[in-house]
Order: sequence, then structure tokens, then C-alpha cells
Amino acid sequence: MEKAVLEKYRKAGRIAAEVRQEIEKKIRPGLKLLDLAGMIESLTEQKGGKPAFPVNISLNEIAAHYTPSAADTRVIEPGDLVKIDIGTHVDGYIGDLAFTYCSEKSPLIDCAWKVLENAVKIIKPGVSVAEISEVIENTVKGEGLGLIVNLTGHTLDKYVFHGSPSIPNVKNESEHVFKEGDVIALEPFITETNGFVKESGVTEIYRYLMDRPVRLTEARKILALARDEYHQLPFAKRWLYKKISPVKVSLALRQLEAVGALETYPVLKEAENKKIAQAEHTIIVAEKPIVTTRLVE
Ligand code: CO
Repeated sequence: MEKAVLEKYRKAGRIAAEVRQEIEKKIRPGLKLLDLAGMIESLTEQKGGKPAFPVNISLNEIAAHYTPSAADTRVIEPGDLVKIDIGTHVDGYIGDLAFTYCSEKSPLIDCAWKVLENAVKIIKPGVSVAEISEVIENTVKGEGLGLIVNLTGHTLDKYVFHGSPSIPNVKNESEHVFKEGDVIALEPFITETNGFVKESGVTEIYRYLMDRPVRLTEARKILALARDEYHQLPFAKRWLYKKISPVKVSLALRQLEAVGALETYPVLKEAENKKIAQAEHTIIVAEKPIVTTRLVE
């Protein structure tokens, strides 16, 4: 990896880690999810980064892809498992970090961090997807807990936030081997017993897929923003209200979705409403792996 590229990955990771540190001081029951999202996204920009995706703030049985809408009134309640997944980028080089806040002590959260710690220990050039997945699953089993079996870690690349291969959190046969300089994000989702997520009907997050002809001026404007301003990375519907007349946004998004110009990210929810904790770090593969999203590095 070029030195300049490494520096950008490090900077993106450090920004995410610093945002986490500041948010951990402020987060508490009673805080509105929308205000929390605003704080996280503006801290990211103040520190010289850009959001690589809208911050995901997923409560309890919601695993991922929940970002507050502009009208969201929900607040954090005591005991809520609040998963905060932050993506930052510097010129397209991404830091992907998640942590879970709870006003009470939670074995699920402790387990999620322990899994990451154990997995990071085996990261080096030549490690396979299957080896990483095995450590993740074994650690969780050792704690007597379960995993969301259909969510995975992933690789990262310039302006690519979910590259392949994906890195399952459960044992598999993948012989894919990582090499020096590969960038991976590991993100176990911990539950009391194994579970899986399903799509719910709600979507607030979108991503550019391809140029398609659309009639509405606002739809064309959104597509240009999605392609050029957000660099084909995911964006939130609420971000558009700063630039496009709010009354037109929903209609324009529906038009773009219908013609296949945008990808949607429906909220993912545990099928039996099991509560979930999550932790995530971004790691650059090396003899001594670099955890970009950890402040001590
Ligand atoms: Co991720």
C-alpha cells in the first residue's frame, strides 16, 4: 500500500475513533436519535472527514440500516442496546467502526469486543476467511452466546464500502486468503442464541447504482448528487432536504428506485426480535495488523 493511501486510511479510522470517544461522553437515555445522528455526522466533518454512509443507529432487535428520518422523534430509553455504526472517509479511503451503548451492563457488548480482540490477533498476510470466521464463532460459543448468522464483515476499497469477499461470522469453507495491505472490517452481531435478520419495510438509506433517464428535475438532481457528491457511497434521505425541496424528495426517490438507478437499504431486523449488540473495527492486513479505528494505534 502506498504511504499516502495508508495515511488516508489511518486518518479516516482515527476520525471515526475520535467521534466514538466524544459520543461516548454524551450519549445517555433521553437523547434523541436524530440529534445523535446530527452530532456524529457533523463531528466527522469538523475533523476533516466525510461520512462514508449515514450513521446507523440501530436499537435492540434492529441490526443495521436504521438511520433516523428528518421527522424521527425516538429517544434512547434506559436499557436500550444502541448500535452506532460510523463510516468516515478521506478521499474515498474508509474507516468503518461500530460500538454499542447501553445504560446497563451487557454481556452481549462485552462479547462483541472480545470477538474482535481474538480475531485481530490472527490477522496477518496469508490468513484465510475461514480461519477468521472460525475464531469469531468459537469465541462467541465460548461465551455461551449466539450470532446473527446472515450478517458478515467485509473488505474495503477506495469508495467501496462493502467489497468482496465478505467475512462470515460463522464457520465456512472459504479459502480466500488475505494479503498485506488488504483492508477488512470485522463486525460480529451478538445475540443470546443464534438468529438471523430480515428486511423490514422502512428505507432511509440509498446508494447510486447507474444513470437512468428520469422525468422529474429533482430526480435528476438527486442522481447527480448520489453519483458525484456522495461518490456512489450510501446517503440518507434526510441529507437531501438541505439541497432539494422536501415535498419533491420522496417522489423523486420512488422514481429513481423504480427505474433501478438507486439501491435501497431497508432496515434489518432480527426475525424473532432478539436483542443484538455489535462491535466493528477496520483493520489493515500486515504482519502487525493496523486497527485504524482504535485510538491507541
Ligand atoms: Co462495516
